[in-house]
Amino acid sequence: MTNEELMTEAKKAREHAYAPYSHFQVGAALVAGNGKVYHGCNIENAAYGPSCCAERTAFFQAVCEGVREFEKIAIAGGPEGSGADELCAPCGVCRQVMMEFCNPQAFQIVLADGKGGCRQFTLDELLPYGFGPKNLG
Ligand code: THU
Repeated sequence: MTNEELMTEAKKAREHAYAPYSHFQVGAALVAGNGKVYHGCNIENAAYGPSCCAERTAFFQAVCEGVREFEKIAIAGGPEGSGADELCAPCGVCRQVMMEFCNPQAFQIVLADGKGGCRQFTLDELLPYGFGPKNLG
């Protein structure tokens, strides 16, 4: 699947975003090692704190099915009513969750580039010197 196709999947997932408080809707499409694509959207909460980002929703859905190997994720985010075509980088907490399950040099994060295309980054680029399971020996 190309980055552009994966971004289309992330935009589809965004249609299910539950964001009545921030009105900022995010979708994610995560490619697992088995080739399967897991979708996620942000799910907010009236108590704010329990809200979950799109990226973590996708990861947790996959891990719940026993999947722990991942290749890349596309993220589409933007204000309600927008096309989510501007770059929307993952928050720090989501980067840390990626660090738990992904090889930071290999895992790719695909974002909109604001010019109708996509840009990709490794997790290592977005979370340099990250702390992960390897640090615990
Ligand atoms: N959000 C995500 O889902 N992913 C990100 O990487 C950035 C932020 C969500 C959280 C919250 O529901 C809304 O976007 C505004 O922060």
